Amino acid sequence: MASSINNSAWLEWMAQLMGGVSRQTCAATFPPDRFYCLLDELPLHLVPRPALAAESQDAGRALFLNPQCRLYVGEGLPGELASRKELLSAFALQGTIAWVRDATDSLVPFWLGPKLESVVRQLRIDEPIPESVPAWARSILESAGILVYADSIAHQRTEREEALGRAAELFRKKGYAPVRGLIHPFHIAALRRYYRHRIRTGRISLGDGQSSRRYAAYNDPVARFFHRQIEVSLSSVAGEPVKLSYVYLASYLSGAELRKHIDREQCEFSITLCLDFSPEPALATPWPIRLDTPTGTVTVYQALGDGLAYRGTRLPHYRSPLGKGQRPLQFSSITWRRILRHRWTRRLELVQFVGSGAGPQRLKARLHAFLRRG
Ligand SMILES: [Fe+2]
Repeated sequence: MASSINNSAWLEWMAQLMGGVSRQTCAATFPPDRFYCLLDELPLHLVPRPALAAESQDAGRALFLNPQCRLYVGEGLPGELASRKELLSAFALQGTIAWVRDATDSLVPFWLGPKLESVVRQLRIDEPIPESVPAWARSILESAGILVYADSIAHQRTEREEALGRAAELFRKKGYAPVRGLIHPFHIAALRRYYRHRIRTGRISLGDGQSSRRYAAYNDPVARFFHRQIEVSLSSVAGEPVKLSYVYLASYLSGAELRKHIDREQCEFSITLCLDFSPEPALATPWPIRLDTPTGTVTVYQALGDGLAYRGTRLPHYRSPLGKGQRPLQFSSITWRRILRHRWTRRLELVQFVGSGAGPQRLKARLHAFLRRG
């Protein structure tokens, strides 16, 4: 997944964002209670800092329009999403949206304002982008995966597969595994804006059965969309196909705590993803989750966008109370469960997986999972 922005292009981009009458004029046409990720006018202060800090290593190489990027206007949707409109019920389906297939084969949306749309519409798939495309536009479109290098799609897939293979190995051995990069940093920023607005305007209620000090939402449609996007990655980490059960969004207030508990039986695998935190963290947030494992307590600090997969039914987990004066923070806790399949079905799937060209680490993790369950 492309996620870094070249520093010089970043400065140019900042300058054009801050300049004159063009500032945030397009975003103002979007309903604030809908989800959108408008590349021309991203909420930069909400993009996780590490994603903005890294220098591009590919300066000077030819960029191309991603052949797996398609533009749709208004409520037009890629065919495979047409039957899942309920997941998009809170999206601002207006203007031009670039749907891009990412390294895990999921389709992710980026909204284009007039400036970037005019840039993208003049590009042809098999030709390097012209030098007339400004550096800021090139950098943003590259970070979103709309522009790619000749070998970057294959490279990103290999990187992703290796990272998931390492996570799967750790998950198999320890029952937990940190997983980074599940959601694009630009979408993290857009989600932060969206959920902050929903909480500020009272659309997410305060208090649930577990805590009176957190805003909570069950199966919010935008959260469900991203839950579906990361299904492939979660199955890879679990080492077997899993069925998504539900997604729970919780935004904690100072004084809140998460008492030690294990999850319900149907929540065999869980992932908690750090979506937001105030004040803005430079790296990891100061509110770690703790897991009691057979070999001792593990403390896991997360940065914005970091996920932690764990066996919620086996490993007791908890967080200490937030200190006085700490400001609200948001976490998205996602849970999913194993797909129960007949033994012969699982054997057939294993054969298909072996033939899919997956890397050795993923093959090893998958084989271990099969042998464990038979
Ligand atoms: Fe839990």
